[in-house]
Formats: sequence, C-alpha cells, structure tokens
Amino acid sequence: MAATSANCFNALAADTRWHAFTREEKRTVAAFVRRWGIQRGQRVLEPGCGAGRLTAVLARQTGRAGRVVAFDASREFIRVAEQRGLPAQVSLHRARVQAFPLPPAEFDHIVCFNVFPHLLPQAAVTRRLVAALKPGGFFWIAHTCSRKFVNAVHRGGPPSIRAHLLPAPGSLARLLRAAGLDGIEIEDAAGHFSARAIRPAPPSA
Ligand SMILES: C[S@@+](CC[C@H](N)C(=O)[O-])C[C@H]1O[C@@H](n2cnc3c(N)ncnc32)[C@H](O)[C@@H]1O
Repeated sequence: MAATSANCFNALAADTRWHAFTREEKRTVAAFVRRWGIQRGQRVLEPGCGAGRLTAVLARQTGRAGRVVAFDASREFIRVAEQRGLPAQVSLHRARVQAFPLPPAEFDHIVCFNVFPHLLPQAAVTRRLVAALKPGGFFWIAHTCSRKFVNAVHRGGPPSIRAHLLPAPGSLARLLRAAGLDGIEIEDAAGHFSARAIRPAPPSA
C-alpha cells in the first residue's frame, strides 16, 4: 500500500461506519455467511480486515477449534480491531498483503471482504493468496454493494485509491482462472457483489 493510501485508510479508521454493520449490511453478511459455508474447526484468512467487524463473524463460524488469521495494512484499523476483544481463535496482524508471510496450503477459505480492489497488483496478489489455500479451499471476494457502486466510490475518492477498481466479471473470471482457480461463480447484484473460486484438488492417483 503506497504511503498516500496508508494515510487514507488510517484516516478512514476513525469513521465508525467501518466499525460495525448497519441492519442492511447485517442481512447481506448473513447471506454471505450462508454462501461461504465455513465449518467449525476450519482455518480462514481475512486480508484487509479493517476494524474486525467481519472477523468477529468469521470467528463465530470457525468456533474455538478453528482459526481466523486477519491482517490489515493500516495501523489505525488494527488498533480498533485489537480493542474489540476478539476470541482466542483470532490472530490479528498489521501487514500488507504483498508481504504478509503465508504458509502454503494452510487455509480452507480466504475471504476478501470489501478489499479486493485495493490488493494491487490484483493478479500477483491473488496468486500469492491462492498458494495459501488448501486444495479444495475457497477464495471469496465479497462487497456489501454492487461493483458499479464500489468503483464509483473509489473513482470519486482520494487520488491514491481512484485506480483501485473491481474488475468486470469477465476480467475477474480470467484473473481467477490464471491464478489457478476454478469453480468460478460471480454475482453482481444491486446490493452486493460476490465471487467464488476454488483451488482444485490434485487428481487422485
Ligand atoms: C474499505 S476497508 C474494508 C475493511 C473491512 N474489510 C471491512 O469491510 O470492514 C479496506 C481495508 O483494506 C486495507 N488494505 C488496503 N490495502 C491493503 C493491503 N495492500 N494490504 C492489507 N490491507 C490493505 C485498508 O487498510 C482497509 O482497512
């Protein structure tokens, strides 16, 4: 994350709208949670966790037998997340996705929630993240608004994030496929955006 966008996100961390979900967002997130199907005991990676509002939801899904590894580049967002009293199955880190140490084939799910446009360069970052997925693991991109809305907000935002865009579904599908994923499903709706992709399991001998 360039210094200017770091400043932008550190400033955004003071905006309490990023600390909790509105009633409408809660409904959207509940639908995402049903779709994700995260099971007790599973391991989840959450890049760009912000203030940890989704991290708390993910931790309820994994339970104490599971693990949620959440990180964010912004010192201020991580400070807010640390104050939430997240349960013991969560580990929080301040790190950029481009440098966060990722164990190979570790996670059952990677959840990029309201963050994928910022993970630049998207193709290289996706490949990096995919290597940390178990074979058969799920890569999720989710937004609590449509692609059109996300991109309009970023294009109208501070100069440092104007080029942070969610690709059109066709381009995104190509990017995910090139990163070694399949089972791709993309849904761009009025109130949400969702993409799912799966790291294929190696063919059995
Ligand atoms: C729009 S906020 C969303 C936060 C959180 N996912 C949520 O919805 O509550 C985007 C987050 O991505 C983080 N971020 C941006 N670029 C990043 C990068 N390269 N590595 C890690 N985090 C990054 C920002 O610091 C910010 O907290």
